[in-house]
Amino acid sequence: IFKGGPCTVTTQLMLAVGTAVIGSLQFGYNTGVINAPQTIIESFYNETWFNRYSEYIPASSLTTLWALSVAIFSVGGIFGSFSVGLFVNRLGRRNSMLIVNVLAFIAATLMGFSKLAASWEMLIIGRLVVGVYSGLSTGFVPMYIGEIAPTSLRGALGTLHQLGIVIGILMAQVFGIDNIMGTPSMWPFLLGFIFIPALIQCTLLPFCPESPRFLLINQNEENKAKSVLKKLRGTDDVSADIQEMKEESRQMMREKKVTILELFRSPLYRQPLLIAVMLQLSQQLSGINAVFYYSTSIFKKAGVTQPVYATIGAGVVNTLFTVVSLFVVERAGRRSLHLLGLLGMAVSAFCMTVSMALTDRFPGVSYISIMAIFIFVAFFEIGPGPIPWFIVAELFSQGPRPSAIAVAGFSNWTANFIIGMGFQYVEQLTGPYVFIIFTILLLMFLVFTYFKVPETKGRTFDEISAGFRSAREKYSPDQLNVLGADSQL
Ligand code: GLC
Repeated sequence: IFKGGPCTVTTQLMLAVGTAVIGSLQFGYNTGVINAPQTIIESFYNETWFNRYSEYIPASSLTTLWALSVAIFSVGGIFGSFSVGLFVNRLGRRNSMLIVNVLAFIAATLMGFSKLAASWEMLIIGRLVVGVYSGLSTGFVPMYIGEIAPTSLRGALGTLHQLGIVIGILMAQVFGIDNIMGTPSMWPFLLGFIFIPALIQCTLLPFCPESPRFLLINQNEENKAKSVLKKLRGTDDVSADIQEMKEESRQMMREKKVTILELFRSPLYRQPLLIAVMLQLSQQLSGINAVFYYSTSIFKKAGVTQPVYATIGAGVVNTLFTVVSLFVVERAGRRSLHLLGLLGMAVSAFCMTVSMALTDRFPGVSYISIMAIFIFVAFFEIGPGPIPWFIVAELFSQGPRPSAIAVAGFSNWTANFIIGMGFQYVEQLTGPYVFIIFTILLLMFLVFTYFKVPETKGRTFDEISAGFRSAREKYSPDQLNVLGADSQL
């Protein structure tokens, strides 16, 4: 994987990336944790209701409370991701990651003690708080990794954010089965578990360096930036990196720090911003979380007898293919992998629809449904899973980067919320044909990516944004579109 340029993977670099992605793991864990123990936690809601009001909870209130418990996580994510800029420019990248662990500790306490306190309110507020934490992490982690990685490894290391997420999901799925922590007495530990990764991250972060780009470009601390870079790169000659950052910094003097409002106003950022947002939407509106939130019930409807294990199977496929992407992203490039991923997902979503529609008539096709779902997940992780998260940091230079990441994260989490809330209702209306909607959306994103998304592999941040600048100066909008197609932007 690690070909093409000065790209030693030093201990310091691995420590920094490894510690940062604990934040990604927390996001994944909380995405997956609520799936398996649903019935058990619902009976806790029911008992608590009975003890308070001497009657059992009405079915509709239970549904609402449960939907709220699931979806409030993404509401927190929307707020968190949008607030990224408030932290990173003032506190720096590393200290921002450190400080927000307060939220993880608060959330762990609220959720872990909710049973003891007989309070579902604590659980729901805990989900909100850990959602805010996760939203912030989806901004901090790709930004930090993108800024400390050598250009030739930015994609591979950026994919580790997604790897953290998928391992988190898988851990949650496995811990949630009933002979581990998915039991009436153990579920508070299942939810409170996030305390441990938070503690580990707080212990390790002080040993990780601040982003050298932040030190040099934002704080003008050239010496500090140099000494951090020497450790990260494992060499004394870091002049090429410093040179490139100074170039970016010169551009930034012209741009200054860019607020979210300015980001929308300036024609300079219109193209990269559109691409960033569309890529986030292509990730979420692909329907991936319909699988990760509702897989157990999807598998049940497809006639699978052990749906929980099929769900874990999906988690395993998810993890394996993220590793595949990690190994090919620096060779194949972002654009081609994203295209391949979207195409594969569209085809498997179509197969899923057909096999699910036939389940009643031919029970044997349930195996085809499982296979189609696994292939859907595999193609997701080839491109649409990891790439949107780290490409935003690549599309923007230091000045607009935090605001761009905030806007992109906001779009991602909002779409996540819409799918999380809306999927079940749409499914009630459309039955097995629900995945046709995703097929159509996937094909639309495929066309968009083909025509608009440039390749960023192997190019420095400065070269990428210079590409957008010169494209604007030199060409008419129509020509711009064409240029995007052969990835010269
Ligand atoms: C991506 C998505 C997340 C999803 C996960 C599945 O990280 O952002 O919403 O649950 O992939 O692997």
